[in-house]
Amino acid sequence: MKNVPQPLDQRALRNALGTFVTGVTVVTTRDRTGTPHGVTANSFSSISLDPPLILWSQALTSRSYPAFRESDHFVINILADDQVGLADHFARKSEDKFHAIDYEDGLFGAPVLPGAAAWLECRKVAMHPGGDHTIYLGRVERFANVCRRPLVFGEGRYLMTAPHPMAA
Ligand SMILES: Cc1cc2nc3c(=O)[nH]c(=O)nc-3n(C[C@H](O)[C@H](O)[C@H](O)COP(=O)(O)O)c2cc1C
Repeated sequence: MKNVPQPLDQRALRNALGTFVTGVTVVTTRDRTGTPHGVTANSFSSISLDPPLILWSQALTSRSYPAFRESDHFVINILADDQVGLADHFARKSEDKFHAIDYEDGLFGAPVLPGAAAWLECRKVAMHPGGDHTIYLGRVERFANVCRRPLVFGEGRYLMTAPHPMAA
């Protein structure tokens, strides 16, 4: 049939989106009871320098979604290239992800993961609906950059950075 919109092939779309390579973060928060939560996320993006705004998005089906929705703060831990184990760990659903994980409390109490390449301690300033995700906008209140090489994700797998031979 001509001109009848076909449903998008979700697997093909996922593969196409996967050609856009990203870093890998673990986003953390603490709920009202003081319980820490963390999820591996590559939807992170920087938005604005003045004011300092960033965003990330979370699946509505995520176990920790209610905690992030209710919390007014979060930390973006940008993983280093030797932290694949942490990326895998925080990408799994589990009751207590912080058991046996080394972390420190950040400015608002959310976990900061030592060994990360950089971290951004954020106050949540807005939430927007984004289909099957919610988009969180955060204002960076404090950050650190320890200049480690970042972990990379693209085409469905973890990668490492290398300089391009054709770049000056
Ligand atoms: C590389 C990578 C990137 C991911 N990015 C996101 C993301 O941006 N947002 C999201 O909601 N889930 C993302 N996920 C999936 C979550 O990490 C996964 O669903 C996790 O189980 C969520 O934890 P929770 O169910 O305890 O909340 C990603 C997973 C991987 C491996």
